[in-house]
Amino acid sequence: MKILAIETSCDETAAAVVEGEGRASPRLLSSVVASQIDLHQKYGGVFPEIASRAHTEKIVPVIEKALKDAGSKKDLNDIDNIAVTFGPGLIGSLLVGVTAAKTLAYVFNKPIIPINHWEGHIYSNFIGEFSNSNFQFSNNNLPKFPSLVLIVSGGHTGLVLMHGHGKYQALGQTRDDAAGEAFDKVAKLLGLPYPGGPAISAVAERIKNYELIIKKKYRFPRPMINEPGFDFSFSGLKTAVFYDIRDKKLNEQDKIEVAYEFQEAIVETLMARTKQAAEKYQPASLCLVGGVSANKRLREEFAKLGDDLSWRPSIHIPDIKLSTDNAAMIGIAAAYHLEKATTWQNINTDANSRL
Ligand code: KG4
Ligand code: ZN
Repeated sequence: MKILAIETSCDETAAAVVEGEGRASPRLLSSVVASQIDLHQKYGGVFPEIASRAHTEKIVPVIEKALKDAGSKKDLNDIDNIAVTFGPGLIGSLLVGVTAAKTLAYVFNKPIIPINHWEGHIYSNFIGEFSNSNFQFSNNNLPKFPSLVLIVSGGHTGLVLMHGHGKYQALGQTRDDAAGEAFDKVAKLLGLPYPGGPAISAVAERIKNYELIIKKKYRFPRPMINEPGFDFSFSGLKTAVFYDIRDKKLNEQDKIEVAYEFQEAIVETLMARTKQAAEKYQPASLCLVGGVSANKRLREEFAKLGDDLSWRPSIHIPDIKLSTDNAAMIGIAAAYHLEKATTWQNINTDANSRL
């Protein structure tokens, strides 16, 4: 059984091929991602109209390459299902992937498996082995249930308790900006390029002995960590950075200190909330997913999260290439949810879809 997966919810045009018998350890056969970062950089963020145009240009070559890399034919003879992200995301971007999937499904008479983008991110930790000429990894330690999942991306930040495949209990989410969005906005304030996460992280890494700086010039809040529940809020943190730096002429060292302290504020907040939820629900595993899971400091801290929890849950963090948007995670999510397969007439985009 093979699945061709398509993802175009934001600014990455992606396709992948997955093989496997349902939930029996599906294997990734190919994964292709065409990034549009250079097209959006001059606008300091994703320009939706340009994103959909770029998806339109890239979608066919990206699908062709994913099929070729997997040893599959263009006539989709050996493909059994087509999986596609139907939401949430930018409507003009989603429409390109969904229309491509529906067209292929109609022409080659294949069923479609619609996948929610967050569910896709969750399944980035369920990808087993993969290797091609420029990308190898192996993961034979899949998350056990119940699993506490921290989703941190540009469009969403929240904690989900996963009781089984497809069984999600939302514990909390951001009331305003997502963590990745805060990275992107603070990067703009510091005059750094889009996407802000990797840019801030690179500047923050130039810090030397921050803990030895006696009089820290910058100190930002760790929002909501002492409030009941598991919600997040990052817009106040971004505003705190704005008010702190707006009348100052920052030199290079200032920028490094702001980037470092901001990143620590985000990481500490995410870790504090995750730990509180872990202590309450005592999950068997802890999973980190979403674009911000590419962040080195967050990965380091998340990896240590189980150390002071008495029941020692297993920790799962995707390979960095599978942290940001890709179609491999969509194909794997689909392999675990073959029951969602339907005909192309029943597939619609939903830009505000929830888990
Ligand atoms: O999951 P993703 O690729 O797209 C959405 O579903 O939103 O996440 C993109 C977000 C952006 O906000 C980007 O700045 C952030 O992930 N990001 C990072 C890093 N790499 C990407 N944030 C912090 N550190 C990184 N290394
Ligand atoms: Zn995403």
